[in-house]
Amino acid sequence: MTMMDELARIADDARARLAEAPTVDALDEVVRTTLGKKGSLKGLKRELGRLDPDERKSVGQAVNDVIDELQAAADDRRHDLERAERTERLQADRLDLTEVMAGSRAGHLHLVTQAIMELEDVFVGLGFTVAEGPEVETDHYNFGALNFPEGHPARDMYDTLYVDFGEPGHTLLRTHTSPVQVRVMETTEPPIYSVMPGRTFRQDTADATHLPVFHQIEGLVIDRGITLTDLAGTIDRFTKAYFGGAFSSRLRPSYFPFTEPSAEFDIIRPDGSFLELGGCGMVHPNVLRNCGIDPEEFSGFAFGFGIERLAVTKAGVDDLRELITNDVRFLRQF
Ligand code: DAH
Repeated sequence: MTMMDELARIADDARARLAEAPTVDALDEVVRTTLGKKGSLKGLKRELGRLDPDERKSVGQAVNDVIDELQAAADDRRHDLERAERTERLQADRLDLTEVMAGSRAGHLHLVTQAIMELEDVFVGLGFTVAEGPEVETDHYNFGALNFPEGHPARDMYDTLYVDFGEPGHTLLRTHTSPVQVRVMETTEPPIYSVMPGRTFRQDTADATHLPVFHQIEGLVIDRGITLTDLAGTIDRFTKAYFGGAFSSRLRPSYFPFTEPSAEFDIIRPDGSFLELGGCGMVHPNVLRNCGIDPEEFSGFAFGFGIERLAVTKAGVDDLRELITNDVRFLRQF
């Protein structure tokens, strides 16, 4: 048998085995025995030395082509198998919770869910509606429409997780709930009085004060004649409604591309200590224009803050990671 025949035989055999490999492990085995260090193709390459130079070149090229082809086929097959294995695992992991819900009174809402519902209640009481938006966003909604120019350093404040979909850098997990402001303004005629709670994502390592997956609530007011005083008053009303009458709030100058002026707001506890809660400001005219609202006619304010920090402060928990460890002894306390 010539070396070309041998190559064709190995290639046919490997193609068939790759196509039929039932699991990722089986696929790895095929890759190891054909493409691996001690695999049949490597063996064939070592034999090339026995050929005369012309033949060595053409057969060598043919071996390399087969290696490339099989590598690509193996990658495709791996992708399919991994997807299938993941789907199977998800199906197998599916829990039937109906029994727990129907019969016993075991379990209750998570501290963060309770906080979201309380916040919604407080803001609905102040005349706001509740809106939601997608967790997977585009660069346009998360940054562009919010007046972050391309390449602007303010984008680096958000350790963005990008999704491998479409153009690189185009699709992302929203880093804040502010993109929902844009979606609300695009679809709603002012006046707008809305809050937008939801899950947000940043490339962060969990520690006592940070989680890579967390929640924020966004507030947006757009109407005629809205001023900074309305913003400060709303934050203070909210603080008292949520924490109690002995708490107050204060604003400190800050910077966000989507508000001008911008501020950070703190909650002042009865003992005088304070909690840095979130950001706020008057909606930037560029943002209004980007959303089809005339800044000559309307003005507004916005704010946004993290829900986990708020919830743990109220509950007296000092490490955010407790919220996601799911130790029932911890969760039962709330
Ligand atoms: N999106 C900001 C953040 O996550 C918080 C924020 C600041 C929201 C100012 C606002 C705002 O609506 O006006 O850091």
